[in-house]
Amino acid sequence: MRVTVVGSGFVGATTAMRVVQKGLAEVVLIDIIEGLPQGVALDMRESAPVEGFEPTIVGTNDYADTAGSDLVVITAGLPRQPGMSRMDLLQKNAGIVGEVVDSVKGGSPEAILIVVTNPLDEMTFLAAQTSGFPHERVMGMAGVLDSSRLRYFIAEELGASPGSVEAITLGSHGEAMVPLPRHASVDGKPLSELVDEATLERLYQRTRDAGAEIVALLKKGSAYYAPSASIAQMVNAIAGDTKEVLPVCAWCTGQYGIDGVYVGVPARLGRGGVEEIVELDLSEQELSQLREAAEGIRSKCEDLGKL
Ligand SMILES: NC(=O)c1ccc[n+]([C@@H]2O[C@H](COP(=O)([O-])OP(=O)(O)OC[C@H]3O[C@@H](n4cnc5c(N)ncnc54)[C@H](O)[C@@H]3O)[C@@H](O)[C@H]2O)c1
Repeated sequence: MRVTVVGSGFVGATTAMRVVQKGLAEVVLIDIIEGLPQGVALDMRESAPVEGFEPTIVGTNDYADTAGSDLVVITAGLPRQPGMSRMDLLQKNAGIVGEVVDSVKGGSPEAILIVVTNPLDEMTFLAAQTSGFPHERVMGMAGVLDSSRLRYFIAEELGASPGSVEAITLGSHGEAMVPLPRHASVDGKPLSELVDEATLERLYQRTRDAGAEIVALLKKGSAYYAPSASIAQMVNAIAGDTKEVLPVCAWCTGQYGIDGVYVGVPARLGRGGVEEIVELDLSEQELSQLREAAEGIRSKCEDLGKL
């Protein structure tokens, strides 16, 4: 398995490190900044004797070196700067993601694309359009991260081990996130029996605002440890053909009554990419929140046409 990680900044570099250290695939790390991916990759290879992994990572500025990739993770792009509107960020990152996809698709026509660059839903849609790849081979990462954050906040609240908490979020990043209380549990006990409504709502709101909470603390730049762990879990599911069901930004074709739009839904991942969108049993309220999130994304994607 050959994985290209585009963008050697915080998210790209930590993703590459997790993928190579876990032995999930050989990694090609690429960036437009000369020397950056080469330096990051060399530094990682030099840690191999201590960490005990195969140093199968190279850095490059040349897309020819990414040819034959099975999976391409796109983290290239700008984070939002102070004073930058959503449309400004959309314009900048649409230019970058479009260029990246154009550069990789020729050499890796069979690749699966995982988009990470924000604004996530629009960039995933754009990557699918630009690549012309089948929709099951183009997906976005946000739901695994939001779910991990929620699981951590629940564990922290209850003093439980994070690994004992199950929870899943659907929809979109931020305000349009759809938490599913009936699908959350701690040590197998339903979450709703362990905390009251007000606590649940507080944990959900903290999850919606979690990206901004980190940005406010870091002052510049945004989160990368939890994002890269989330990407690595998706890479593992695809590379290992595990058929795990993870919340990903995937193309719906009628599931949940949603058609022709990318939105966060539970998806079975394997070597084919999104092999199935799994339809959980949702309440009427959850279903209508999910459809509302999908319509919000559909109208945001229309902004791409205005650029
Ligand atoms: N989906 C999510 O949940 C999630 C989570 C965290 C970050 N993000 C997004 O991921 C992106 C990267 O975040 P980061 O913290 O790594 O930023 P960063 O600034 O540290 O790194 C971005 C890298 O992209 C590179 N780049 C820019 N244009 C490029 C091009 N045309 N080709 C190749 N490389 C190019 C830059 O040189 C830089 O090294 C941002 O858009 C951020 O908002 C998304």
